[in-house]
Amino acid sequence: MRSLGSLNHYFWKYKYLFFSGLICIVLSNFFAIYPARIIQQLVDAVIDQILINQLFLGTPQYGALIRQSVILTSYFALLMLAMALLKGVFMFLMRQTIIIMSRHVEYDLKNAIYSHYQKLHTGFFKANSTGDLMNRISEDVGRVRMYIGPAIMYTSGLIILFLLVVPIMFSTSPKLTLFVLMPLPIMSIAVYLVNSNILRKSEKVQQQLSRISSFVQEAFSGIRILKAYNRLEHFGLEFDKETDEYQKRNLELVKFNAIFFPLIMLLIGFSTLLAIYVGGMEVAKGNISPGVIAEFIIYVNMLTWPMAMIGWVTSLMQRAAASQIRINEFLHTAPEIVNHNQEVYPVNGKIEFNQVNFTYQETGIQSIKDLSFQIEPGETLAILGRTGSGKSTVAELLNRFYDPDSGNIHIDGKPLAEHNIYLMRKETGYVSQEVFLFSDTIYNNIAFGLHDMNYSKEEEEKLVIQAAKDADVYDNIMGFKDGFQTRIGERGITLSGGQKQRITIARAIIKQPKILIFDDCLSAVDTETEEKILQNLVRIMKGKTCILISHRISTVKMADKILVLDHGSIAEQGTHQELMLQKGIYFDLYQKQLIEDQQEMV
Ligand SMILES: Nc1ncnc2c1ncn2[C@@H]1O[C@H](COP(=O)(O)OP(=O)(O)OP(=O)(O)O)[C@@H](O)[C@H]1O
Ligand SMILES: [Mg+2]
Repeated sequence: MRSLGSLNHYFWKYKYLFFSGLICIVLSNFFAIYPARIIQQLVDAVIDQILINQLFLGTPQYGALIRQSVILTSYFALLMLAMALLKGVFMFLMRQTIIIMSRHVEYDLKNAIYSHYQKLHTGFFKANSTGDLMNRISEDVGRVRMYIGPAIMYTSGLIILFLLVVPIMFSTSPKLTLFVLMPLPIMSIAVYLVNSNILRKSEKVQQQLSRISSFVQEAFSGIRILKAYNRLEHFGLEFDKETDEYQKRNLELVKFNAIFFPLIMLLIGFSTLLAIYVGGMEVAKGNISPGVIAEFIIYVNMLTWPMAMIGWVTSLMQRAAASQIRINEFLHTAPEIVNHNQEVYPVNGKIEFNQVNFTYQETGIQSIKDLSFQIEPGETLAILGRTGSGKSTVAELLNRFYDPDSGNIHIDGKPLAEHNIYLMRKETGYVSQEVFLFSDTIYNNIAFGLHDMNYSKEEEEKLVIQAAKDADVYDNIMGFKDGFQTRIGERGITLSGGQKQRITIARAIIKQPKILIFDDCLSAVDTETEEKILQNLVRIMKGKTCILISHRISTVKMADKILVLDHGSIAEQGTHQELMLQKGIYFDLYQKQLIEDQQEMV
């Protein structure tokens, strides 16, 4: 439960809502209790009145006495009505304060978690699944809200009710009080046990439900593979199994749910029974008036629900505490990459790697070994190498998604870690190997690169069109019915692999950055388109430092310098001509690709 302590500052932040909520709880309870006293007086008064009336039966005063009785009961009835109204008003206000406070805290907490997520390093997102991140920001926050809202509201309601009711009961009849209160603790424990089971079972139902949704999601996003491999029937059977399990778990839950209300009713009935039985004996002995029995039955009914709530609230709090631990675990994860520099300055684009070593922590694979190279501003460096040789890792290090384990990376003579990371990323156009586009229009996907640059609408439009032309995707886009406004992704059209790659190129070059990094971004386009894009890039890359990563000689041969990577270190380097003369890996690759290209032509 200690983990919930980290939420205390929120009570202080919303102190006005919190304290006015507590006042409303006190008032609504007061107006709930007071009618019991009125009923006791009413019952006693009516009994007296009946006795008196009977004495005067047949006399001329009888009519007047009956009228008096009617006035008396109407007076009590009006009083009860007023009390009920007041109670209702304060209950309304109690929810309007405490529950609203809990919604505010939920909002704050979600925002705090989201903005913290965003600060975390890329490795964190590799180590934790997206589903887990989503759960902590939605379900876990929801459970914590149940503590801030309903749990606090019911607990303080119960405490206040006890403080108000029990002294009244004791002062009226200590013996009767002890008897009617006896079953209540038993009920709390029983409700707690039943409710913990309900929560455990419903969690299992929930887990199965998310299994079903991810099953369905995967099946339908891979529907083409399922059809192509004739696996529809098999998946149908698998789905049956999952839903069977779901039904089984739900039926178990229903069993416990079915016990819950009868159990409470049984215990309320038991207390009522005791109130009538013990109360009746007390009345017979002349210790209390009959009205007191009516009063006590009302108290019992009033106390049982909150007592049942103790069990419910306890399990809510346990769940909230467990959720808060999970939330805190992520909130207390410190970002590994922190920006210490807020300055804005021009970037020239000189890049140096000095004996850089890097190992991915999650896999323990050392993907960069003792790597050193230099690129002068405006130069183009190509990185070639077999799959898994560490090419993409170089790009990730340059984006500072990770920091090297040893050695250092300098930009313009200054260590990358001392640069303003946001400025560096703004001045870097990065096309990642993995194509990612947002489910939005093509226009917005390309203009995404321009964020923060204060262009007018017309200028922006011109730039988007120019970038699309440079990436050689303009004609494709104009071929769609909606042009640049075509939606892509989930509910839009599906682009071909090459079209997607070219849109990501347009997104990177639109902002005219000082440093361009293209990670295997021409792998899905044919050689003719590649040639066209490369020609455009020569113009765009003028005055910019560029890193071209590829498997293909055709992409890299025009570079000022070519690195051939092997197992994270440089195997060969030089210009196309120099490497051809060396007759090493590069030369072999050239021969092979030449043959492949010739075969393609035939
Ligand atoms: N995020 C990661 N976590 C753990 N290991 C990784 C990660 N990314 C890459 N690796 C590993 O690091 C090594 C180098 O990977 P890298 O992606 O840099 O290769 P690459 O040269 O770009 O290959 P490809 O040509 O196939 O794109 C590989 O062995 C890979 O398994
Ligand atoms: Mg790669």
